[in-house]
Amino acid sequence: MALIQPHGGKLVNRLEGNFSDPTASIELDPMALSDLELIATGAYSPIEGFLNQEDYQSVVKNMRLADGTPWSIPITLPVDEEQADRLEQGDVAELQKDGTVYGLIEIEEVYQPDKVQEAENVYRTTETNHPGVKKLYDRPDFYVAGKIQLLTRPSREHDDKFYLDPAESRDLFKQLGWKKVVGFQTRNPVHRAHEYIQKASLETVDGLFLNPLVGETKSDDIPSDVRMESYQVLLKNYYPANRVVLAVFNAAMRYAGPREAIFHALVRKNFGCTHFIVGRDHAGVGNYYGTYDSQKIFSNFEEDELGITPLFFEHSFYCLACEAMVSHKTCPHDDDQHVILSGTKVRELLRNGEKPPKTFSRPEVAETLIKGLQRSEVVSQGQKG
Ligand code: ADX
Repeated sequence: MALIQPHGGKLVNRLEGNFSDPTASIELDPMALSDLELIATGAYSPIEGFLNQEDYQSVVKNMRLADGTPWSIPITLPVDEEQADRLEQGDVAELQKDGTVYGLIEIEEVYQPDKVQEAENVYRTTETNHPGVKKLYDRPDFYVAGKIQLLTRPSREHDDKFYLDPAESRDLFKQLGWKKVVGFQTRNPVHRAHEYIQKASLETVDGLFLNPLVGETKSDDIPSDVRMESYQVLLKNYYPANRVVLAVFNAAMRYAGPREAIFHALVRKNFGCTHFIVGRDHAGVGNYYGTYDSQKIFSNFEEDELGITPLFFEHSFYCLACEAMVSHKTCPHDDDQHVILSGTKVRELLRNGEKPPKTFSRPEVAETLIKGLQRSEVVSQGQKG
């Protein structure tokens, strides 16, 4: 049985190429470096390089590439004006970071984006308190477009076994005989509510692709090494081993809420998922998005254009009266029976060495997070000297 088609019909592979020798060099920031690798391995299929102006404008305005294919987040390579002036169409440039050449780009064009419009459309705000908007404005002001080729794999922060290219996850799902695979995006530890919506999905599909984002996140998010430990502890204690694949998603977090939910779903389709979980305030930050905006945005597309089926979940929590995980769809009790803690509150508890209640987080997970956070505090204080 054939797996789900990659977005656009073909898995992109830019691990090889026949570009001419480079005559210029561009320095990548961490976001661009992770995007480079994800383009090359086909995670961003059908995109083969950093977006040209036509595709960029079409994505910003219509959530589609110029040819009409749905795509919601601009994938761009920013450079400053001085560098923009020096780059010529047709040049091949090295893509490097801190002295290592990671790839090449064949320059199609260099253009100046309208970042205010990008912020308004992609992030629904121009406030620089929004971490995605701040990042957008902080990056240089010109975008370089063109197809890329990856030459060197970026170094890995986690165990090799957690890195699967889309071709590899697809092979694995095939080997496992999974026809229906649900993808789960997270930038947080997996708490009881996450576990609940994953397991509710697992009741009707063959396998769970737990795919935590481990690229750049904002500084108060829990570091990815601590999270990776917590996922393993959770899986070992509470999940059937043969129903879950844990692998990292090495992209930067945009915090673009609804737009990012579409992007996250399309990328997981490229990894071979047929279904994708979208819960409350997916990829949101602060109060910039409505609780279910990331679900509503899916109605802008026909189901077959996206190809992957979103599974929507209401805000879930433990109910003391039901003695179970529930949502307003399944529980009749008043809010005073519901265990609801904000992410900020939970991080504060954990950083103070206190476990959130068992009804919120599995004790093994809380312990791992507390220990991990204590360790990473020591490291970061050491680094501050
Ligand atoms: S995200 O930025 O990566 O989306 P997070 O790790 O908090 O953040 O969420 C992972 C997924 O779980 C998202 O689809 C989100 O909507 C969903 N989710 C998080 N908390 C809840 C909850 N209490 N109830 C229902 N869905 C939730």
